[in-house]
Amino acid sequence: MASQSKKNPESIYDLIVKDAKGNDVDLSIYKGKVLLIVNVASKCGMTNSNYTELNQLYEKYKEQGLEILAFPCNQFGEEEPGSNDQIAEFVCSRFRSEFPVFDKIDVNGDNASPLYKYLKLGKWGIFGDDIQWNFAKFLVSKDGQVVHRYYPTTPPLSLEYDLKKLLEHSQNEK
Ligand SMILES: *[C@@H]1O[C@H](CO)[C@@H](O)[C@H](O)[C@H]1NC(C)=O
Repeated sequence: MASQSKKNPESIYDLIVKDAKGNDVDLSIYKGKVLLIVNVASKCGMTNSNYTELNQLYEKYKEQGLEILAFPCNQFGEEEPGSNDQIAEFVCSRFRSEFPVFDKIDVNGDNASPLYKYLKLGKWGIFGDDIQWNFAKFLVSKDGQVVHRYYPTTPPLSLEYDLKKLLEHSQNEK
């Protein structure tokens, strides 16, 4: 079987991405989970509280079926850790240990990952525009549909209400 994402995916489960080691990951393994998908800078900025808040959400909701998938992307200015490199590394690796961080991808332009091309289409094709910066956030329902998109400036904790609704919604209700 070819390990390629379908040309016109009907849900996120038709897509295949690569993990940090370059192995294929078929997103259908996340069927029945609510997914929070976020693009992060490969070099982690230690002052960025998105990491803390994402970890808080994950801690609180992973038992109930939340998965957070992080995709490093260097299309946006690097957050400059400067001489604080080591601390940044530390924060970053802690962040990494909590939930999966995948292979580096493009989120905008012709070489954008099929996943991001799909995410940007959105459920009704209304999301269309480019990703603005690191930490744009997408919520995917338990049946693999992209239902919400949030700006990079939206704090992860403010997604909690939408997230809870999606977690409560059982997979078979439509
Ligand atoms: C998350 O990251 C974005 C982009 O760097 C930033 O604008 C935003 O303020 C951050 N949010 C929090 C809660 O740190």
